[in-house]
Amino acid sequence: MKIDILTLFPDFFTSPFSLSMIKRAIDNGIVDVNIHQIRDFGLGKRKQVDDSPYGGGAGLVMKPEVVTAAWESIKKTKETVTIYLTPRGEVFNQSTAMNFAENCQHIIIVCGHYEGIDQRFIEISGAKELSIGDYILTGGESATIPLIDSIIRLLPGVLGNDESSKNESFSLPLLEHDQYTMPRTFRGLKVPKVLLSGDHAKIESWRIRNSLSKTASNRPDLIARLSPEFWENLK
Ligand code: ADE
Repeated sequence: MKIDILTLFPDFFTSPFSLSMIKRAIDNGIVDVNIHQIRDFGLGKRKQVDDSPYGGGAGLVMKPEVVTAAWESIKKTKETVTIYLTPRGEVFNQSTAMNFAENCQHIIIVCGHYEGIDQRFIEISGAKELSIGDYILTGGESATIPLIDSIIRLLPGVLGNDESSKNESFSLPLLEHDQYTMPRTFRGLKVPKVLLSGDHAKIESWRIRNSLSKTASNRPDLIARLSPEFWENLK
């Protein structure tokens, strides 16, 4: 997969891309990530990238000719998808991540700033507007990290164990069960006995019930969405 990121703050990405799983995926050639400075396409001696909004109001709007020139400098194919990260976008979730990981070879991410990007760029590029949640960040850069992290970790060969992305919160309709590792007792708290039993059927049943109670307390909305088949299979 190829990912091109258009940003006014390329340094933002230095640390996340040089650590851990994203770095491994880049080093192993599973994903090719390129950062592009939008200001390189800025206007005049001062490389202007923004201006006041028509109609008045606070803040600045990123200029259409600047962002469009930056976007047009990237080589595209028929499969290229452009994403504009903005709090007004459709909310990104695990199924969107899975959809990108399975079906998309090339993603261009445009990080907005200030009061956003001139609407004409969004129309010209056909960018899909995505939000990572109902809160306002200072810009699209900090939204880009969770977005691409959640996509990259789903690409074949990224996680050590191919099973580990299947059995986790949001892939199943339930949140993940509690996990324990050694020692068996820590500050008087014991690992649940069933997990030491070696009885895989009992362990599975404990995990599902534990997931159910975690989901009921943290995300009752997910419990309400469980299908009748789910409850039937649980019996
Ligand atoms: N830019 C600012 N806030 C954002 C959000 N919640 N999601 C995506 N991009 C953003």
